[in-house]
Amino acid sequence: MSMSNVSVTPSGCPMHQVSEADLSIKNLIMKRELHADPSGFFRTLRETDPLHWDPDMNAWMATTYEAALAILKDPRVGSMPTKSLEEARKQGGAEAERFYHLLSKNILFMNPPEHTRLRKLINAGFKPSVLQKMRQVTRELTHAIMDRVQPTGKMDVVADLSRPIPAMIIARLLGAPDGDHDRFRKWGDAAVELIQMVSIEDERFMPLLRKGLEYYDYMGGLIKRFRAAPGEGFLHELIAAVDADPNLDDEDLIANSRAILTGGHQTTADAIGAGLYILLKHPEQLKMLREDPSLMPAAVEELMRFLSPVVLHPRRAMEDMELQGKSIKKGQIIFAVPAAANRDPKAFPDPEKFDITRAKKLNLAFGQSVHYCVGAPLARIELEETYSVVLERLPDLQIDGDVDWFFRFPMRGLNKFNVTF
Ligand code: HEM
Repeated sequence: MSMSNVSVTPSGCPMHQVSEADLSIKNLIMKRELHADPSGFFRTLRETDPLHWDPDMNAWMATTYEAALAILKDPRVGSMPTKSLEEARKQGGAEAERFYHLLSKNILFMNPPEHTRLRKLINAGFKPSVLQKMRQVTRELTHAIMDRVQPTGKMDVVADLSRPIPAMIIARLLGAPDGDHDRFRKWGDAAVELIQMVSIEDERFMPLLRKGLEYYDYMGGLIKRFRAAPGEGFLHELIAAVDADPNLDDEDLIANSRAILTGGHQTTADAIGAGLYILLKHPEQLKMLREDPSLMPAAVEELMRFLSPVVLHPRRAMEDMELQGKSIKKGQIIFAVPAAANRDPKAFPDPEKFDITRAKKLNLAFGQSVHYCVGAPLARIELEETYSVVLERLPDLQIDGDVDWFFRFPMRGLNKFNVTF
């Protein structure tokens, strides 16, 4: 890798003063101090080269709002499973073949028109009545956690609050029996760990993949039982949608109940935990929110912009193309980087300021266009209700000691966050 102070992108764009090494996303992976605050690193990337070829990652990085949005909206740019899973399919035998087969039906890795069919399926479940019920469930779960921790005067927000809630919500959303709820967290953790595996050679790869199969089998069983005894709720709606459409089948449903688990577990956990930290670090904003709870939806939007827990979204060029003045070759990987785009001063004035009264503008934390997070309405409900119960119940909430940030590709959040109250 060139360490010179003047480097050139594949399309010939000169970048003065800043070396290629300074611009590589490898910095974010390797340097712990950037996990806590990547804003300066992203500013350099945005200002130097908004659509940057990163030779270390063998990928393009779109870091301005304009460039990231252009990538997410461009029909010539598609979605794809990770390379390690493609490798696993070839080398991992029958288990990997079955896993990959179901993964290839996961909405996140599909492009229109197949994507549109599956999106309709998942949307069928997110009815207003279902979301309303989940609002109540989130409040009940948070109150139950508060009942347990309040007498102790302290908690680790990550271990006690932000990690348990989203997996429990998904278990409740899917209608799993109470005794099975803990399994969802383990399946969710395994799914996230598998995304981060770079090679099938890793000894954890196949056990994690088997956890994925276990979840698929569990959901297959649940769907069978629900079909035999129709009722109300998210999964019943999805079963009805499959039964009404000859182009859908149970494999689509099983594959995408894992998309819901993968999409809604760690992401929401990171958002709840690190979001609460950001609120506590901005006491004047927190005071405003405590005094006027109607600001909660706007506060959640601003938290999502400011934090952007899904730091980058992978895409692949499906043809040779010119974009933002760069020549992109068919097959090349392109990352839209919402964590950088959401701090772009051209899109958000004074972007490093956390301001819950900020004028409303779409941020990219839930993605955009085709793959815009289908669970965003539920995620917003989880954040709003968790914070509202916590703020109601804990008027003297204080940060206790240092927090521990992580960046585990592609997500950023907190490993540990102690508070007293
Ligand atoms: C704060 C929490 C959440 C964040 C930050 C988040 C973020 C995202 C992002 C950025 C995408 C688009 C990824 C891409 O374009 O490559 C996405 C898609 C998705 N999310 Fe979420 N998500 C959250 C919560 C949820 C929840 C609660 C669920 C479900 C229960 C969910 C399910 C999904 C699914 C199924 C997709 C794929 C949609 C598609 O491909 O059309 N997410 N999410």
